Amino acid sequence: MKARVFSGIQPTGQLHLGNYLGALKNWAEIQSHYESIFCIVDLHAVTAYQNPVELRSKIRETAALFIASGIHPKESSIIVQSDISGHAELAWMLTCVTPVGWLQRMTQFKVKAEKQETVGDGLLQYPVLMAADILLYNAGIVPVGEDQSQHLELTRDIAQRFNSLYGAGRDLFVVPATHLPLVGARIMGLDDPTQKMSKSAIGAHHAIALLDAPDVLRNKIMRATTDSHPAVDIEAMGPGIQNLFNIAQACDETVTKEQVAFMRYGDFKKFVVERVMARLAPIQAKYREVTEDPAYLDGVLREGAARVRPIAEETIRTTKRAMGLYTAE
Ligand code: TYM
Repeated sequence: MKARVFSGIQPTGQLHLGNYLGALKNWAEIQSHYESIFCIVDLHAVTAYQNPVELRSKIRETAALFIASGIHPKESSIIVQSDISGHAELAWMLTCVTPVGWLQRMTQFKVKAEKQETVGDGLLQYPVLMAADILLYNAGIVPVGEDQSQHLELTRDIAQRFNSLYGAGRDLFVVPATHLPLVGARIMGLDDPTQKMSKSAIGAHHAIALLDAPDVLRNKIMRATTDSHPAVDIEAMGPGIQNLFNIAQACDETVTKEQVAFMRYGDFKKFVVERVMARLAPIQAKYREVTEDPAYLDGVLREGAARVRPIAEETIRTTKRAMGLYTAE
């Protein structure tokens, strides 16, 4: 039996190159070796207010981008989190074994909470729902970008705590491993290479959206923040140049440091633009093809849900039994 893989992306903002190089690309590469489930995590998205009409269309856009990025719906299950009730149900059961101190320590919670006047309970519970996503399918491997590592550690802690409280000597939940890509685990903002590239950053030149037109992405890369050196010094790349190099190498694995040594920054940026464009052009073409037929997307999501629902229902049943909750005989 193949080991199971689970990962997810929030359907908010514009999916960007960080999401692709940190997650989607890796998913596409490993999917055939595992039983893979890739999820559009809309319940996570609503931990911050989302316009309902926009959210509905973002869910479809995200599903289409999964396929456009190389996730094969026949090989992997593409699902929407709120379509499978087990995610929310298991999250409650896991919440009840999770000390609040563990959640308050989460870096992403602290950063997001600082920006808000009233902090919703959902924001604090966010990583428990994430643990539920993974444990619901007993996934052994979770391919993510580096920013999710802390949440994955918490998932392991929750799984172990649940196992020791309710497992009666058995491991009820598989304790999952984090799978980071070799290159591209942490792509930084183009306007500020000290900040992670993020969907919520506001700068117009911060992130490359997967659907950016060629002239838009060229312009963003050509304007990327670097340093005052004239040419690439491969022994001592500043953060901006290092980030652009990582992007080029993650887009095209044949790229080496020697290839860019002593390149003037203008030429180096053009080199990066070419690699990014070559990577994104087929994704954008496939995206247009997939979105031409809304019925196809609905079919993919229906099929994905039908495939994984029995796994989710079984986990809910065994978890309820383990906790002594009511299940009809
Ligand atoms: P999200 O939607 O913020 O990001 C989706 C994926 O993209 C990766 N990523 C990056 N990788 C490299 N460089 C970056 N700048 C960058 N920005 C984002 C993220 O690491 C992630 O892999 N909480 C998750 C979604 C989630 C999930 C899960 C993931 C919910 N349940 C269960 C795995 C398993 C999130 O908000 O990802």
